Amino acid sequence: MRLSNIIQSVLTITTLSNFVAAENSTNNNTPPIKVSGNAFYNSDTNERFYIRGVDYQPGGSSNLTDPLADVEICSRDVPVFKDLGINTVRVYTVDNSLDHSECMKLLSDAGIYLILDVNTPTSAISRINPSCSYNADYLQNVFATIDTFSNYDNVLGFFAGNEVINSDNTTNTATYVKAVVRDMKKYIKARNYRTIPVGYSAADIVANRQTSAEYFNCGDDADARIDMFGVNDYSWCGPSSFTVSGYATKMQLYKNYSVPIFLSEFGCNKVVSNRPFTEIEAIYSTQMSSVFSGGLVYEYSNETNNYGLVKINEDGTNVTKLTDYENLKSEYAKVSNPEGDGGAYSGNDYSTCPDYVKGTWEANNTLPEMPSAASAYFKSGAGEPMGTYISTQNSCHEDDDDDIASLSSILSSSTTSEATSSVESSSTAVNSTTSSISTTMSSSAVSSSSRSSTSKSKHSKGVANSLDIPPIFQLLSQVFGYLL
Ligand SMILES: *[C@@H]1O[C@H](CO)[C@@H](O)[C@H](O)[C@H]1NC(C)=O
Ligand SMILES: *[C@@H]1O[C@H](CO)[C@@H](O)[C@H](O)[C@H]1NC(C)=O
Ligand SMILES: *[C@@H]1O[C@H](CO)[C@@H](O)[C@H](O)[C@H]1NC(C)=O
Ligand SMILES: *[C@@H]1O[C@H](CO)[C@@H](O)[C@H](O)[C@H]1NC(C)=O
Ligand SMILES: *[C@@H]1O[C@H](CO)[C@@H](O)[C@H](O)[C@H]1NC(C)=O
Ligand SMILES: *[C@@H]1O[C@H](CO)[C@@H](O)[C@H](O)[C@H]1NC(C)=O
Ligand SMILES: *[C@@H]1O[C@H](CO)[C@@H](O)[C@H](O)[C@H]1NC(C)=O
Ligand SMILES: *[C@@H]1O[C@H](CO)[C@@H](O)[C@H](O)[C@H]1NC(C)=O
Repeated sequence: MRLSNIIQSVLTITTLSNFVAAENSTNNNTPPIKVSGNAFYNSDTNERFYIRGVDYQPGGSSNLTDPLADVEICSRDVPVFKDLGINTVRVYTVDNSLDHSECMKLLSDAGIYLILDVNTPTSAISRINPSCSYNADYLQNVFATIDTFSNYDNVLGFFAGNEVINSDNTTNTATYVKAVVRDMKKYIKARNYRTIPVGYSAADIVANRQTSAEYFNCGDDADARIDMFGVNDYSWCGPSSFTVSGYATKMQLYKNYSVPIFLSEFGCNKVVSNRPFTEIEAIYSTQMSSVFSGGLVYEYSNETNNYGLVKINEDGTNVTKLTDYENLKSEYAKVSNPEGDGGAYSGNDYSTCPDYVKGTWEANNTLPEMPSAASAYFKSGAGEPMGTYISTQNSCHEDDDDDIASLSSILSSSTTSEATSSVESSSTAVNSTTSSISTTMSSSAVSSSSRSSTSKSKHSKGVANSLDIPPIFQLLSQVFGYLL
């Protein structure tokens, strides 16, 4: 643990404020994307923007690597993205302490935007103890990631969380994820950054599909409502159809939604060995364009869960394009975007907040206040980015406004916690209305960690005192062989 860095970041946040990436994208290939009504628009041309993308995390969850901080990796892949015909990649986790300027420039030169999840496996809202994981140290990490990326025009948006709600009984986590959405939006404003959309990427859970969508887009506090909603949806399997896949049902479900919706993961691999990607024709047609703004195929590289479009060769210097890649490329080439605005609509109201229902929907419509120690970041920036090695999930916050109290709580937890082991979570979503079983990767991590024995926080009742690994994890580790 880099203790000196922690002290420095707390004591000298003013001098380190506003960590700005070395280089701006200065070309016109990726003017900022803005949200209006339920669609995205290119701020230069005012044309509607549809995400044609892939999810991008080479190494997957078993060998987490920041592909945007390693020029060898991104310069290998960006030409492939260009060849495939995409305009967006989604990255699930980055190291905010590294330099991303070269890779961001390569992407921008190729006309490619980034959707970035702001969490790391050890710094995220935890399903086991969401209240405790929502703390000032965590927000420092999130805000530092925003500092690192906000000056790139080709950042399309940030995801505050991915599949944190991944079952019927993790709905209470939504309260904290929504608080993070609010804090991120307020932080972006306070730091005078460009208005970068903030969203949430939802697992496809039949029992709370509609409720989650409504919850994240409800209430009178505009800062707490998402700017965009991603749905991870594996319901179109093989050569399916608009109706058989259940896409038609989802069009009905979301038709009144007031902000852009897109498929933040798609590409079911359960039915045939090579995916035909015929859903591309539906997604980018007027059948869906009045509600959906495209999507991201899961996923670029072939990892243990077998969803790859390319295989990264042994020495990492090049990739082999798989049949799925060729199929997807030819589908993209066939399908152009709908004419005009594609039926986008800006007259919808934000959603009505769903009621708290014990056992079914346990999200609170009153969000927790931001931990007071985090408010310092609004004035002077988040300070030094701490990278991916910091664990924040057990640093429950103090109520004090006093920075010294916060410092001592950081010091005590960082010096007494033993090594923290964590894995990126992976979730098996409940079946959708079709027969598919969707298996998705999630970067909203749950960590099982040794507990600090000295947490004396006033909120220490919030600190989980067990080492239990949630059963879903035990199951997933058996299924996917992820190390715990
Ligand atoms: C980046 O772009 C912003 C907005 O155009 C500008 O204010 C800032 O000075 C630029 N930074 C650098 C390092 O060029
Ligand atoms: C993990 O990823 C890095 C960066 O791509 C690579 O150099 C390394 O060989 C990978 N390790 C394993 C075990 O695959
Ligand atoms: C959710 O329910 C499952 C199955 O009943 C159970 O194994 C798991 O521990 C529960 N998770 C939480 C966070 O309560
Ligand atoms: C959408 O809005 C219309 C008009 O307000 C309403 O009649 C309809 O029930 C709504 N549909 C859904 C699915 O909420
Ligand atoms: C992708 O990875 C999976 C899991 O390692 C493997 O079974 C499969 O053969 C790989 N696919 C290709 C085309 O290499
Ligand atoms: C990848 O590079 C190796 C040499 O490092 C070469 O033998 C192989 O043919 C290359 N593969 C592709 C698909 O370009
Ligand atoms: C919701 O949050 C408020 C404010 O923190 C609290 O008073 C209330 O008890 C919470 N409701 C539930 C059902 O937990
Ligand atoms: C989920 O789908 C599988 C495979 O089609 C099916 O066997 C199973 O009964 C379904 N489970 C539920 C809960 O719908």
